[in-house]
Amino acid sequence: MGTTAYGDWIRDFEAARDERAERGDPEWRTGVPLHPAIRRSVQRFQVGEDGDGVELITKAEAAGDAEYASAVRMFVAEERNHARLLALLLASGGAPVIASHWSDRVFVTLRRALGLRLELLVLMIAEVVALRYYRTLRDGADDALTREVAGRILADEERHVPFHCHRLRRALHPLPPPVRVLVTSGWRAALAGVALVVAVDHGPALRRLGVGRGRFVAEVVRSSGPIAATMR
Ligand SMILES: [Fe+2]
Ligand SMILES: [Fe+2]
Repeated sequence: MGTTAYGDWIRDFEAARDERAERGDPEWRTGVPLHPAIRRSVQRFQVGEDGDGVELITKAEAAGDAEYASAVRMFVAEERNHARLLALLLASGGAPVIASHWSDRVFVTLRRALGLRLELLVLMIAEVVALRYYRTLRDGADDALTREVAGRILADEERHVPFHCHRLRRALHPLPPPVRVLVTSGWRAALAGVALVVAVDHGPALRRLGVGRGRFVAEVVRSSGPIAATMR
């Protein structure tokens, strides 16, 4: 794929990293009141954030674009930081992290089996669902620490979606336009299915956060329209 303009993305990732370093962590405390439904929900997202970065880095390196590969490495570092923040949030609420959850195992297995292009499509499903999830958590959680952690993660996810979109647009470009439409429509359908599963799995937490299951799914689906348009 040759060299390309990933300089801007790298600069964004670097700026975010410097800002993180300067700002430091939220003030962790103990005895944060995490509602049991929220705790279970955050535990599941925490394993997901810990995901499968090594695999993605390997594929990005194999794509032969050094700039892209370093941007991906910084992306993976941000995801790992999300896992770390959520683990510390759980600890503040006196809750452990969980070793694994079926939803994460499904994602990891699927992504391993795919090439970079399809892996990014699968990853983008998780990213777009995460976007809506962290917004719900930021806006609906009872305690300030949860809202702060969710807000920080959300700010990163808001950069991740356009970053992957940019790469996918290039990756899908060689396909004939009707195939591209098929791919992005299939992506939207798969996203809707995943949003539905997440809404059911996290139903009690979402209700507690003030967003019904139906609304969660509808908003994820609606948000995917412009994203799919950007991909093609
Ligand atoms: Fe994340
Ligand atoms: Fe992300």
